[in-house]
Parts: sequence; C-alpha cells; structure tokens
Amino acid sequence: MKNILITGGAGFIGSHVVRLFVNKYPDYHIVNLDLLTYAGNLANLKDIESKPNYTFVRADICDYAEMQRIMKEYKIDGVIHLAAESHVDRSIVDPFTFARTNVMGTLSLLQAAKTYWESTPEGFEGKLFYHISTDEVYGALELTDPEGIESPFTTTASSSQHHLAFGRDFFLETTKYNPHSPYSAAKASSDHFVRAYHDTYGMPTLVTNCSNNYGPYQFPEKLIPLFINNIRKRKPLPVYGKGENVRDWLFVEDHARAIDLIFHKGKVAETYNIGGFNEWKNIDLIRVVIKTVDKLLGNPEGYSDELITYVTDRKGHDMRYAIDSRKLQRELGWEPSLQFEEGIEKTVKWYLDNQDWIDNITSGDYEKYYEQMYSNR
Ligand code: NAD
Ligand code: TYD
Repeated sequence: MKNILITGGAGFIGSHVVRLFVNKYPDYHIVNLDLLTYAGNLANLKDIESKPNYTFVRADICDYAEMQRIMKEYKIDGVIHLAAESHVDRSIVDPFTFARTNVMGTLSLLQAAKTYWESTPEGFEGKLFYHISTDEVYGALELTDPEGIESPFTTTASSSQHHLAFGRDFFLETTKYNPHSPYSAAKASSDHFVRAYHDTYGMPTLVTNCSNNYGPYQFPEKLIPLFINNIRKRKPLPVYGKGENVRDWLFVEDHARAIDLIFHKGKVAETYNIGGFNEWKNIDLIRVVIKTVDKLLGNPEGYSDELITYVTDRKGHDMRYAIDSRKLQRELGWEPSLQFEEGIEKTVKWYLDNQDWIDNITSGDYEKYYEQMYSNR
C-alpha cells in the first residue's frame, strides 16, 4: 500500500497519526485532507510539513465531487478517516453540523472510495477504509461496586493507588450501540454506514472505538488542555455537576500506535476497542492536573485548588465510559506505553512549553465563543 489518505490530520489525534506515518513510512505518500475548521491547525504539523512524502489538501469531506477527484488524483489505496466534529458540548448547541460532517461527510468519503476503487483493475484488492470512532457510541455505564477487570497491561496504565474500575461493566466490541449525545449519535450513524459498505458492497472496512485521548495539540475546549490553560491564566475551572463522571484516559501517541498496528495487521470487517484500563473520576483527575501544573510552575501545593468551580451539569452527561481493550492486546499485542501520571506530566509540560500555540488558538473568536458558553452555564 502506497498512497494513504488521512482525513482530519490537522486536528488533535489526526496530527499524531500523520506525524507517525510520515516519519515511519518514507515509502508511503501521506495525503492529509482537512477543512481546517476551528479545530484544525497546521501549526500541529510544522515539524513534518516539508517532508517529501507529505501533502496537505484543504477540502470538505462533505464535498462528494472533490472527494472523488482527490481519490483519483492521488491514487489512494487506504483511507484513515478521523475528520469529524468532536466536542460533545458543541453538539448539544449545534447538532446539525455534527450530522452534516460526521454522517454525510463519512458517507461522501465512503462512496468516493468505493467508486474510485471499483474503477481500478484490482478493485477492492489491497484497499482499506479505516474509520476512527469513539467509545461514546456504546452509551453510558453505571457507577457500581468497583469490582471490574484487572488491567491486563504490563505497562500499568495508572498508579497502584488508583482504582482501575468504577463498576462491573465494560464496553466490549459486541456491546449494543446506545448513543446519548448528538455527537455520539452522529458517530454511531457513521459507524453503521462504514459497516454497511462492507456488508453490502464487500468494501474492505475496519472500525475502532477508542476512549478519551489526552496529550499535546488537543484543542483547549476539552477538559485537560482547558484546565491547564485556565490554571496558567488564573481562570475558574468549570467542573460539570459533582465531578463524579468517569472516563478512561489514553495518551494520544498510544492511540496513534494502535491505529498504525490495526491499519497494517487488523482483520478486515472487524471492530477493535482501544483503551487504557485507566479510569478516573473527573474531580480526581482534575486534582492530578492541578497538582502537576502547580508543581511545574513552582507554585506551592494546593495553590490552584481555589479555582475549582462547580457549574451546571452538561445536559445528558454520560456517567461512565470504560473500554475493555483485551481483544486488541490478545490478537495484535498492543499495550499502552505510558503510566498515566507520566503521561499527564508530559502533557502539562508540553502545554506550558508551548504557550504560543495555545495563545494563538484562544485569542480572537474562540475567546468570545468560550466566554459565551461559560456564561450560559
Ligand atoms: P479534532 O476536533 O481535534 O479534529 C477534527 C479535525 O477534523 C480538525 O482538524 C477539523 O478541521 C477536521 N474537520 C472537521 N470537519 C471537517 C470536514 N467537513 N472536512 C474535512 N475536515 C474536517 O478531533 P480529535 O479529537 O482529533 O478526533 C479525531 C477523531 O477521533 C474523530 O473522529 C473523533 O470522533 C475520534 N475520537 C476522538 C477521541 C478523543 O478523545 N478526542 C476519542 C475517540 C475517538
Ligand atoms: P471532554 O474533554 O469534553 O470529553 P468527553 O465529553 O468526550 O468525555 O470532557 C471530559 C469530562 O470532563 C466529561 O465528563 C465532561 C467533563 N468536563 C467538565 O467537567 N468541565 C469542562 O469544562 C469540560 C470541557 C468537561
């Protein structure tokens, strides 16, 4: 496989996937297709932009004619599809944009891949459409007795003092879809279309569902970069509800490594869950973030605790997400590489060392948007 189209490559996870592929596979031509919405930022890829095996194309995945043209022009053999609207809070105020991009955009890309591949002499042979999805499509789990699955990873995902599970249930690849937010409903719909293209037309597709990612280059509307930035600026830290919701956190480079492995070794038509067995209650995670930022800024311990501000809960706020990723470990040997505290320290350090990156994003229109979102709570 030679020509790989990565969509959403100027976003958070996409930029890590593009970087990994461009550096690791000099024989591949990596075409990064991104509309550069508010979430897309070419500054995320400064270090690889002049590599000979890299091309950036600005385009909208909803533009079917343009998707057909790009598939043909670059003779695309494989698609790794990450482009999406990705923030739950935005989906609550603007669900149409989520249906348009995540559902219609994915459909347009699928159809463009299908028509182009069918027009080549080898047809679907050696082709792959790999769709990146989320654990949120499975719905929400309850907080029950913390008697879950022991982490199977030798690289323990979190420190020994921390609970690895907040309940008995986990999302499996076979768990029935039950999305609650407009974001997860749109992602679930796109996942169904991807599988339908395999089942109906025999197109080689793959879907992976990953838990919450954290790390460098994440847009600062998501919990971890938002809080790091607000601590630095001495702004309130808006904790939704009681801060008791639980998420399973994975370092973004570990997700990118999983995508690389699955793209090359995964079985067509399969689904793989990706997660760290690393569950945290929001408020506990927030305290780790505060402690780490204060330490790295040279503040006394507890200095920024006063910024914690409990605010109205998110509408329909899913209580707990927890991924069982043992299939990926068993079948392809993937494991996360970092312990959580190590990953958080690396992440906080990156945001503090790259204040220009974050200041460029948070000035101007975004500042106004954020103030408005916050004052509506
Ligand atoms: P992001 O919002 O940081 O990036 C999305 C990218 O898609 C941006 O660069 C944006 O410009 C681009 N884009 C948006 N609409 C487009 C369009 N119409 N045409 C072309 N490009 C468009 O998102 P992310 O957090 O990097 O997530 C990437 C993918 O991974 C998404 O599909 C998301 O659902 C999935 N995912 C994310 C997480 C997470 O924790 N962030 C977890 C699991 C799965
Ligand atoms: P987020 O980063 O938006 O990811 P997701 O909603 O996809 O899990 O939020 C992570 C958790 O943090 C989620 O339970 C909502 C909560 N949260 C806050 O408490 N305050 C905030 O300002 C944000 C953005 C999120």
